[in-house]
Amino acid sequence: MQVIDNIPALRQMRAQINGRLGVVPTMGALHAGHLSLVEAARAENDAVLVTIFVNPTQFAANEDLAAYPRDLPRDLDLLREVGVDIVFTPTPDLMYPPGYQTYIDVEQVSQGLEGARRPGHFRGVATVVAKLFNLTQPTVAYFGQKDAQQVAVIRQMVRDLNFPLEIAVCPTMREPDGLAMSSRNVYLNAEQRRAASVLYRALQNAGDIYAAGERDPEVLRRAIFDTLRTEPLAAPDYVSIADARTLQELTQPSDAPMLVSLTVGIGKTHLLDNFILPAELNDRVGLSRVLGG
Ligand code: PAF
Repeated sequence: MQVIDNIPALRQMRAQINGRLGVVPTMGALHAGHLSLVEAARAENDAVLVTIFVNPTQFAANEDLAAYPRDLPRDLDLLREVGVDIVFTPTPDLMYPPGYQTYIDVEQVSQGLEGARRPGHFRGVATVVAKLFNLTQPTVAYFGQKDAQQVAVIRQMVRDLNFPLEIAVCPTMREPDGLAMSSRNVYLNAEQRRAASVLYRALQNAGDIYAAGERDPEVLRRAIFDTLRTEPLAAPDYVSIADARTLQELTQPSDAPMLVSLTVGIGKTHLLDNFILPAELNDRVGLSRVLGG
Protein backbone atom coordinates (compact mmCIF):
# COMPACT_ATOMS: atom_id res chain seq x y z
CA MET A 1 0.00 0.00 0.00
CA GLN A 2 1.39 3.40 -1.03
CA VAL A 3 0.78 6.33 1.33
CA ILE A 4 1.07 9.63 -0.54
CA ASP A 5 0.99 13.13 0.94
CA ASN A 6 1.82 15.32 -2.06
CA ILE A 7 0.23 16.15 -5.39
CA PRO A 8 3.05 15.33 -7.87
CA ALA A 9 3.42 11.81 -6.43
CA LEU A 10 -0.35 11.34 -6.47
CA ARG A 11 -0.61 12.39 -10.11
CA GLN A 12 2.28 10.12 -11.06
CA MET A 13 0.67 7.18 -9.24
CA ARG A 14 -2.72 7.91 -10.83
CA ALA A 15 -1.18 7.91 -14.31
CA GLN A 16 0.09 4.37 -13.71
CA ILE A 17 -3.32 2.91 -12.86
CA ASN A 18 -4.92 1.07 -15.76
CA GLY A 19 -8.57 0.13 -15.57
CA ARG A 20 -11.15 1.18 -13.01
CA LEU A 21 -10.20 3.18 -9.91
CA GLY A 22 -12.54 3.15 -6.89
CA VAL A 23 -12.05 6.13 -4.56
CA VAL A 24 -13.31 6.34 -0.98
CA PRO A 25 -13.07 9.87 0.47
CA THR A 26 -12.90 9.86 4.31
CA MET A 27 -11.93 12.05 7.24
CA GLY A 28 -10.17 9.10 8.93
CA ALA A 29 -11.16 7.68 12.35
CA LEU A 30 -12.22 4.70 10.28
CA HIS A 31 -14.89 2.22 11.35
CA ALA A 32 -16.72 -0.72 9.79
CA GLY A 33 -18.91 1.69 7.79
CA HIS A 34 -15.84 3.05 5.96
CA LEU A 35 -14.47 -0.44 5.50
CA SER A 36 -17.72 -1.55 3.84
CA LEU A 37 -17.19 1.25 1.29
CA VAL A 38 -13.63 0.03 0.72
CA GLU A 39 -14.85 -3.55 0.29
CA ALA A 40 -17.40 -2.45 -2.32
CA ALA A 41 -14.67 -0.46 -4.10
CA ARG A 42 -12.34 -3.47 -3.96
CA ALA A 43 -14.97 -5.78 -5.46
CA GLU A 44 -15.90 -3.44 -8.30
CA ASN A 45 -12.58 -1.92 -9.45
CA ASP A 46 -9.01 -2.75 -10.46
CA ALA A 47 -7.48 -0.43 -7.83
CA VAL A 48 -8.71 1.32 -4.67
CA LEU A 49 -7.61 4.69 -3.36
CA VAL A 50 -8.72 6.07 0.03
CA THR A 51 -8.32 9.72 0.98
CA ILE A 52 -7.92 10.72 4.63
CA PHE A 53 -8.36 14.43 5.25
CA VAL A 54 -10.16 16.21 8.09
CA ASN A 55 -11.52 19.03 5.96
CA PRO A 56 -11.52 22.35 7.87
CA THR A 57 -13.91 24.11 5.48
CA GLN A 58 -16.84 21.85 6.37
CA PHE A 59 -16.62 22.70 10.10
CA ALA A 60 -18.18 25.90 11.41
CA ALA A 61 -16.23 28.02 13.92
CA ASN A 62 -18.19 26.54 16.85
CA GLU A 63 -17.71 22.92 15.72
CA ASP A 64 -15.34 20.15 16.73
CA LEU A 65 -12.50 20.48 14.15
CA ALA A 66 -9.65 20.41 16.70
CA ALA A 67 -11.29 17.63 18.72
CA TYR A 68 -12.28 15.52 15.68
CA PRO A 69 -10.82 12.02 16.29
CA ARG A 70 -7.56 11.36 14.42
CA ASP A 71 -5.46 8.18 14.45
CA LEU A 72 -3.55 7.83 11.19
CA PRO A 73 -1.40 4.79 12.17
CA ARG A 74 -4.53 2.82 13.13
CA ASP A 75 -6.36 3.91 9.98
CA LEU A 76 -3.43 2.83 7.79
CA ASP A 77 -3.29 -0.59 9.52
CA LEU A 78 -7.00 -1.11 8.85
CA LEU A 79 -6.66 -0.08 5.20
CA ARG A 80 -3.64 -2.35 4.70
CA GLU A 81 -5.67 -5.28 6.07
CA VAL A 82 -8.53 -4.71 3.59
CA GLY A 83 -6.21 -4.45 0.60
CA VAL A 84 -6.22 -0.76 -0.32
CA ASP A 85 -3.65 0.19 -2.99
CA ILE A 86 -3.15 3.90 -2.32
CA VAL A 87 -3.91 6.26 0.57
CA PHE A 88 -3.78 10.02 0.02
CA THR A 89 -3.21 12.00 3.23
CA PRO A 90 -2.89 15.69 2.35
CA THR A 91 -2.39 18.45 4.93
CA PRO A 92 -4.76 21.45 5.20
CA ASP A 93 -2.04 23.66 3.67
CA LEU A 94 -1.78 21.42 0.64
CA MET A 95 -5.53 21.49 0.02
CA TYR A 96 -6.01 25.16 0.92
CA PRO A 97 -2.71 27.00 0.35
CA PRO A 98 -2.43 30.67 1.32
CA GLY A 99 -4.54 32.74 -1.09
CA TYR A 100 -7.04 29.94 -1.72
CA GLN A 101 -10.39 31.44 -2.82
CA THR A 102 -12.54 29.01 -4.85
CA TYR A 103 -15.62 27.31 -3.34
CA ILE A 104 -18.55 25.31 -4.68
CA ASP A 105 -22.12 26.02 -3.62
CA VAL A 106 -24.71 23.42 -4.57
CA GLU A 107 -27.64 25.71 -4.01
CA GLN A 108 -31.02 24.11 -3.31
CA VAL A 109 -30.21 20.64 -2.10
CA SER A 110 -27.71 22.06 0.47
CA GLN A 111 -30.30 24.25 2.13
CA GLY A 112 -32.49 22.19 4.47
CA LEU A 113 -31.74 19.54 7.11
CA GLU A 114 -28.00 19.48 7.94
CA GLY A 115 -27.48 22.50 5.69
CA ALA A 116 -29.84 24.55 7.86
CA ARG A 117 -28.32 23.23 11.09
CA ARG A 118 -24.72 23.69 9.88
CA PRO A 119 -24.54 26.75 7.58
CA GLY A 120 -21.60 26.46 5.17
CA HIS A 121 -21.10 22.75 5.83
CA PHE A 122 -22.04 21.52 2.36
CA ARG A 123 -20.06 24.31 0.68
CA GLY A 124 -17.00 22.86 2.42
CA VAL A 125 -17.95 19.28 1.54
CA ALA A 126 -18.65 20.04 -2.13
CA THR A 127 -15.42 22.03 -2.44
CA VAL A 128 -13.16 19.39 -0.94
CA VAL A 129 -14.87 16.52 -2.76
CA ALA A 130 -14.50 18.36 -6.10
CA LYS A 131 -10.80 18.88 -5.36
CA LEU A 132 -10.36 15.23 -4.39
CA PHE A 133 -12.14 14.14 -7.59
CA ASN A 134 -9.85 16.34 -9.70
CA LEU A 135 -6.77 15.01 -7.93
CA THR A 136 -7.66 11.31 -7.92
CA GLN A 137 -9.87 10.99 -11.03
CA PRO A 138 -12.06 8.12 -9.81
CA THR A 139 -14.02 5.80 -12.04
CA VAL A 140 -16.42 5.39 -9.11
CA ALA A 141 -16.48 7.27 -5.78
CA TYR A 142 -18.10 5.63 -2.74
CA PHE A 143 -20.17 7.31 0.00
CA GLY A 144 -22.39 6.04 2.83
CA GLN A 145 -26.17 6.42 2.96
CA LYS A 146 -25.87 7.64 6.55
CA ASP A 147 -24.99 11.04 5.09
CA ALA A 148 -27.88 11.00 2.62
CA GLN A 149 -27.98 14.76 2.09
CA GLN A 150 -24.22 14.76 1.45
CA VAL A 151 -24.82 12.11 -1.23
CA ALA A 152 -27.58 14.25 -2.79
CA VAL A 153 -25.29 17.32 -2.79
CA ILE A 154 -22.38 15.44 -4.35
CA ARG A 155 -24.56 13.80 -7.02
CA GLN A 156 -26.00 17.18 -7.95
CA MET A 157 -22.48 18.66 -8.17
CA VAL A 158 -21.29 15.76 -10.33
CA ARG A 159 -24.23 16.27 -12.68
CA ASP A 160 -23.96 20.06 -12.80
CA LEU A 161 -20.18 20.21 -13.27
CA ASN A 162 -19.93 17.17 -15.59
CA PHE A 163 -17.48 15.16 -13.51
CA PRO A 164 -16.80 11.99 -15.54
CA LEU A 165 -17.42 9.51 -12.74
CA GLU A 166 -20.06 7.42 -10.99
CA ILE A 167 -21.26 7.90 -7.41
CA ALA A 168 -21.97 4.69 -5.51
CA VAL A 169 -23.91 4.67 -2.23
CA CYS A 170 -23.52 1.90 0.36
CA PRO A 171 -26.03 1.09 3.13
CA THR A 172 -25.55 2.43 6.66
CA MET A 173 -23.61 0.04 8.90
CA ARG A 174 -25.12 -0.36 12.38
CA GLU A 175 -24.04 -1.50 15.83
CA PRO A 176 -26.01 -4.47 17.26
CA ASP A 177 -28.50 -2.07 18.95
CA GLY A 178 -29.07 -0.23 15.65
CA LEU A 179 -26.89 2.85 16.28
CA ALA A 180 -25.48 4.02 12.95
CA MET A 181 -21.68 3.73 12.90
CA SER A 182 -20.02 7.14 12.99
CA SER A 183 -16.59 8.49 13.90
CA ARG A 184 -18.38 10.78 16.38
CA ASN A 185 -19.74 7.84 18.43
CA VAL A 186 -16.43 7.80 20.35
CA TYR A 187 -17.52 11.06 22.02
CA LEU A 188 -20.37 9.26 23.85
CA ASN A 189 -19.90 8.09 27.45
CA ALA A 190 -21.50 4.78 28.50
CA GLU A 191 -24.84 6.31 29.48
CA GLN A 192 -25.03 8.44 26.32
CA ARG A 193 -24.06 5.44 24.19
CA ARG A 194 -26.98 3.46 25.65
CA ALA A 195 -29.33 6.40 25.04
CA ALA A 196 -28.14 6.79 21.43
CA SER A 197 -29.99 3.66 20.29
CA VAL A 198 -33.21 5.71 20.49
CA LEU A 199 -32.51 7.18 17.03
CA TYR A 200 -32.82 3.79 15.37
CA ARG A 201 -35.85 2.85 17.47
CA ALA A 202 -37.53 6.07 16.33
CA LEU A 203 -36.77 5.33 12.66
CA GLN A 204 -38.04 1.77 13.08
CA ASN A 205 -41.23 3.04 14.67
CA ALA A 206 -41.87 5.25 11.62
CA GLY A 207 -40.97 2.29 9.35
CA ASP A 208 -43.49 0.02 11.11
CA ILE A 209 -46.27 2.59 10.83
CA TYR A 210 -45.44 3.16 7.15
CA ALA A 211 -45.46 -0.62 6.52
CA ALA A 212 -48.95 -0.73 8.06
CA GLY A 213 -50.11 1.73 5.37
CA GLU A 214 -49.66 5.20 6.92
CA ARG A 215 -48.53 7.84 4.37
CA ASP A 216 -49.23 11.05 6.30
CA PRO A 217 -45.85 12.71 7.03
CA GLU A 218 -47.30 14.45 10.10
CA VAL A 219 -48.26 11.11 11.67
CA LEU A 220 -44.81 9.66 10.91
CA ARG A 221 -43.10 12.76 12.34
CA ARG A 222 -45.20 12.53 15.51
CA ALA A 223 -44.35 8.83 15.92
CA ILE A 224 -40.65 9.64 15.76
CA PHE A 225 -40.93 12.45 18.31
CA ASP A 226 -42.96 10.13 20.60
CA THR A 227 -40.15 7.57 20.57
CA LEU A 228 -37.44 10.21 21.07
CA ARG A 229 -39.33 11.61 24.08
CA THR A 230 -38.94 8.23 25.84
CA GLU A 231 -35.20 8.94 26.16
CA PRO A 232 -34.44 11.85 28.55
CA LEU A 233 -30.89 12.34 27.18
CA ALA A 234 -32.12 12.83 23.60
CA ALA A 235 -32.58 16.44 22.44
CA PRO A 236 -33.81 16.40 18.80
CA ASP A 237 -32.38 19.08 16.47
CA TYR A 238 -34.83 18.17 13.71
CA VAL A 239 -36.96 15.34 12.39
CA SER A 240 -37.64 15.44 8.66
CA ILE A 241 -39.97 13.51 6.40
CA ALA A 242 -38.92 14.62 2.94
CA ASP A 243 -39.44 13.59 -0.65
CA ALA A 244 -36.36 11.37 -1.11
CA ARG A 245 -35.78 12.66 -4.66
CA THR A 246 -35.80 16.39 -3.90
CA LEU A 247 -35.27 16.51 -0.09
CA GLN A 248 -38.25 18.90 0.06
CA GLU A 249 -40.17 18.54 3.32
CA LEU A 250 -43.49 16.71 2.84
CA THR A 251 -46.67 18.23 4.22
CA GLN A 252 -49.22 16.00 2.46
CA PRO A 253 -49.57 12.20 2.34
CA SER A 254 -47.40 10.83 -0.45
CA ASP A 255 -46.64 7.52 -2.14
CA ALA A 256 -43.28 8.78 -3.41
CA PRO A 257 -40.18 7.39 -1.64
CA MET A 258 -39.60 9.30 1.61
CA LEU A 259 -36.32 10.12 3.29
CA VAL A 260 -36.90 10.03 7.03
CA SER A 261 -33.96 11.76 8.69
CA LEU A 262 -33.13 13.18 12.06
CA THR A 263 -30.33 14.72 14.07
CA VAL A 264 -30.41 14.34 17.82
CA GLY A 265 -28.15 15.88 20.44
CA ILE A 266 -26.96 13.46 23.11
CA GLY A 267 -24.80 15.47 25.48
CA LYS A 268 -22.63 17.66 23.23
CA THR A 269 -22.67 15.15 20.36
CA HIS A 270 -25.12 15.54 17.48
CA LEU A 271 -25.97 12.15 15.97
CA LEU A 272 -27.40 11.81 12.49
CA ASP A 273 -29.40 8.95 11.00
CA ASN A 274 -31.91 8.26 8.24
CA PHE A 275 -34.05 5.61 6.64
CA ILE A 276 -35.76 5.51 3.26
CA LEU A 277 -39.38 4.42 3.02
CA PRO A 278 -40.35 1.97 1.68
CA ALA A 279 -37.74 0.01 3.63
CA GLU A 280 -36.61 -2.09 0.62
CA LEU A 281 -34.87 1.04 -0.72
CA ASN A 282 -32.25 0.93 2.06
CA ASP A 283 -30.08 -1.45 0.05
CA ARG A 284 -26.94 -1.01 -2.05
CA VAL A 285 -28.76 0.62 -4.95
CA GLY A 286 -31.89 2.12 -3.35
CA LEU A 287 -30.76 5.71 -2.71
CA SER A 288 -28.92 5.86 -6.05
CA ARG A 289 -32.09 4.74 -7.82
CA VAL A 290 -34.20 7.29 -5.98
CA LEU A 291 -31.81 10.19 -6.59
CA GLY A 292 -31.23 9.18 -10.22
CA GLY A 293 -28.50 10.61 -12.47
O1 PAF B 1 -18.26 12.02 4.80
C1 PAF B 1 -17.12 12.47 5.07
O2 PAF B 1 -16.32 11.82 5.76
C2 PAF B 1 -16.71 13.83 4.55
O3 PAF B 1 -17.78 14.71 4.54
C3 PAF B 1 -16.03 13.76 3.17
C4 PAF B 1 -16.98 13.26 2.11
C5 PAF B 1 -14.81 12.86 3.23
C6 PAF B 1 -15.57 15.16 2.75
O4 PAF B 1 -14.66 15.70 3.66
